[in-house]
Amino acid sequence: MIELKDLSYVRLGASNLEEAGSFATKCLGLQVGEQSGKALYLRSDDRAHTLCYFEGDPTDQTVGFEVEDESKLNAAAATLDQLGHPVHAGTPTECALRKVKAFIGFKDPTGNQIELAVRPERSGKRYFASRDAGITGFSHVGLSTTNPARDEQFWTQVCNARVSDRIGDIALMRVNAIHHTIALAPGRSPGIHHVNHQVESNDDVLRSYYHLSGQRVPIVFGPGRHPTSGARFLYFKGPDGMVFEYSVGVDEIEDEATHRPRQFGFEPSSLCMWGSRSAGVLPPNS
Ligand SMILES: [Fe+2]
Repeated sequence: MIELKDLSYVRLGASNLEEAGSFATKCLGLQVGEQSGKALYLRSDDRAHTLCYFEGDPTDQTVGFEVEDESKLNAAAATLDQLGHPVHAGTPTECALRKVKAFIGFKDPTGNQIELAVRPERSGKRYFASRDAGITGFSHVGLSTTNPARDEQFWTQVCNARVSDRIGDIALMRVNAIHHTIALAPGRSPGIHHVNHQVESNDDVLRSYYHLSGQRVPIVFGPGRHPTSGARFLYFKGPDGMVFEYSVGVDEIEDEATHRPRQFGFEPSSLCMWGSRSAGVLPPNS
């Protein structure tokens, strides 16, 4: 069993690195940790970075998860290899680019680029962004799936993800107490569906709604509230069409042993209990 401890980073190719950086700092509210040549490292919490934009193909998207140590990483590599997933061991240069001690890369059954990393770097400097969006941390990702049942099986049986709730056949999965760290989203091709940051309060969600609207950032869903996790949310579109989400108040699963996933219907009200409708960003409306 591959033990994912936490989400660590996302790496996104940017067709225009300058534009991506401007969005990340002026709209999203991240802090530049470091700019080195063709890569921009962005912070959302006390880690050295949680998002890296690099000059490249926007379809080149990777999600990194933290695992405990190098022996767990080696065991994960052996498990994946045995299951027929080709594994790439990160070279020292590639590790330096990710600010981790070691990592392996592989593809999930849909073809999403996944990395497992050991010892992601933290920063002694506190996160301090130039735009106060109220961000408290990097929290979850939506991952495209071309076969929800198969991918749920991969994340829950090969890895330690547990299903918290389902909308239709779409699983919202946790790797710790937080309601979900991985949300599957039906799609025709691999890729990151959305990137979530938590914010401090409902006020932050609504403040950002007005701020981003004023900046002409396309709002694609919300403000609203998910009946599954209980989170109040706002989804909006960033560079190269990537969807970002702010949310607050996500439930924690208090009793790991007795929690049973709830089944929600595959309909808009399962995504927003206030009546907001997604502009094609989430399945029941797309
Ligand atoms: Fe989300």
